Amino acid sequence: MQLAHSCPILQIATDITTLKSALSSHPDSWIIGGGSNILITQDLDRSVIIIDNKGISKVTEDESCVTLKVAAGENWHDFVLWAINHNYGGVENLSLIPGKCGAAPMQNIGAYGVELSDVLIEVHALDKETQETIVLSKEDCQLGYRDSIFKNSLRGKVVITDIVIRLSKPGHHKLSMSYGAIQNEIEQMGIDEVTIADVSTAVITIRQSKLPDPAELPNVGSFFKNPIVQIDIYESLSMEHPDMPHYPVDDAHVKVPAGWLIDRSGLKGHRVGDVGTHINQALVIVNYGAEYGQEILDFSVEIQSKVLDRYGISLQREVNVISNGPLPL
Ligand code: EPU
Repeated sequence: MQLAHSCPILQIATDITTLKSALSSHPDSWIIGGGSNILITQDLDRSVIIIDNKGISKVTEDESCVTLKVAAGENWHDFVLWAINHNYGGVENLSLIPGKCGAAPMQNIGAYGVELSDVLIEVHALDKETQETIVLSKEDCQLGYRDSIFKNSLRGKVVITDIVIRLSKPGHHKLSMSYGAIQNEIEQMGIDEVTIADVSTAVITIRQSKLPDPAELPNVGSFFKNPIVQIDIYESLSMEHPDMPHYPVDDAHVKVPAGWLIDRSGLKGHRVGDVGTHINQALVIVNYGAEYGQEILDFSVEIQSKVLDRYGISLQREVNVISNGPLPL
């Protein structure tokens, strides 16, 4: 979000050498990619390094697949468009997600039935302490729903420098169109033989119709994760709220859309001063002009508390909050 906070030194790492030298002089720096999924709540007491290395290279290729090494500093959506232009499939459902490629494994970006984990092979990173390059396989990354090792045991310890992704080649694409909104959009487009470019166009249209453009109305996309609740809790809630949507997770759990919970708590379009939930998507908190991130964090705590009161469900933040001190839960 565009806020008035400052930080002592800002360095831009355009390659591994500049990254290493920036880390040598400021080892405790905050590392930022595109900054599209962070909320800064105060002036920072540490410097910031922005990862901006570039490059897409082919690692291996066979008849059906291509494996690509993509620099962390590449813009994610530009990479998706590059893949579609080369007729490489697998990331078209992830069109228009803001941010850079290096941030994609951090929270295992996902949308419209596809997650990064469906295409990721490995992650290359720099150990901040030893400055050695480490390679983590997809399994090492412990990818989950908006989660990874980089948000847990490796938090703040490594800098992702490249991701390695496997995509399908023409004749081998597996289109993912199970998500209802994509099917509707494709039907409206009136296409018989759907291509990866058509799926991308459909996703872009859906996102643009629902989600505010961060360049026009600052936001970080979904502010909270969709909560995963135990089936018995869901069942007792659904007696009172039979229209509560839910998606299966495993035998014992379902996922409930946080946007629905916020909406049905009467908070869609709710606004306090210069912060509010979006009028079309209650899960997105928008900044109408707040200067300080704390206003946004306070607003989000109010939303959490109202949803907890009404449904007994505790919403967890999806956004990464950057702050010098401790944070509310
Ligand atoms: N809903 C409401 N009211 C709202 C918003 C949503 O009732 O104000 C209901 C919808 O009607 C639908 C359900 O909630 O039944 C789910 O809504 P939607 O399809 O818009 O998706 P979401 O669960 O809110 C998730 C991701 C998005 C991703 C979409 C599409 C999370 C936290 N968010 O949103 O990811 O684009 O699915 O796959 O999982 C992001 O991570 O920043 C992000 C935008």
